[in-house]
Amino acid sequence: MADIIDGKAMASRLADRLADEARRFHIATGRQPTLAVVLVGDDPASMIYVRRKIAACGKAGIRSTDHRLAATASQEELIALVDRLNADPAVHGILVQLPLPPGIRANAVLDRIDPAKDVDGFHPVNVGRLSLGSEGLLPCTPMGCMMLLDSVIDDFRGLKAVVIGKSNIVGKPVALLLLERECTVTITHILTRNLPDLVRAADIVVAAAGAPGLVRGDWVRPGAILIDVGINRVADGEGGHRIVGDCAAAEMDHAAAITPVPGGVGPMTIACLLANTMRAARQQLGLAAAG
Ligand code: GUN
Repeated sequence: MADIIDGKAMASRLADRLADEARRFHIATGRQPTLAVVLVGDDPASMIYVRRKIAACGKAGIRSTDHRLAATASQEELIALVDRLNADPAVHGILVQLPLPPGIRANAVLDRIDPAKDVDGFHPVNVGRLSLGSEGLLPCTPMGCMMLLDSVIDDFRGLKAVVIGKSNIVGKPVALLLLERECTVTITHILTRNLPDLVRAADIVVAAAGAPGLVRGDWVRPGAILIDVGINRVADGEGGHRIVGDCAAAEMDHAAAITPVPGGVGPMTIACLLANTMRAARQQLGLAAAG
């Protein structure tokens, strides 16, 4: 049987450490680390994610401020809100939940966030720092994927990694992080030819295509490590639904280790958001990095 990499437990340990840090930060500075969460419109999945992020902040002693705009809000209104949050010294992190409604250009909004407060790591300055291998705020899901991999891999050097998915949020940044560890990285996507053959060569597979059950058991070589980033809602055949990943999990007994869905990457994404908020708060107040 493949080992199950328990992201929920790992995220909970990380959140406990961050709660401790948040407490020490408060004592040292008299301020509470603060994340501003911006949601535009009423996309049901985004509403669930935002609620989880705010709840996680509360548990860790990180203050969150909740900013809701109607789906009809203009790009100018959203940018004006970002400008206000940038200028507010009591706000250390800013998260604008994606996707944004049609009519608002996400890049125009993300470009406007102060890179020091960009806890999603989506600003071009932080993307540039990542591609240069220098210290910036890292996007939360890729950072969580690397922590999960770190729990089962000691030495990444020379390992073959295949990333499925080329998004700015997961595929591209996780590929850069794997490259930084000296993996040999292949970035693929849903239109890649011979995708099963490329995956068969991989020691590490990061599946982030948003395609339920895409990666089949016979695509995966024995002993491979699978990080399943997919969160797909599918009908359960009884009138309800369930959440499944991008890997056909029941076919992966021969893998060395796999992240479950739910309970793998998802909780780590949220814990990494808390970690980035703490890091941004410390940097803005000139405090040393946590040990
Ligand atoms: N939408 C899906 N994933 C994310 C994320 O990590 N951050 C933000 N802001 N929006 C998302």
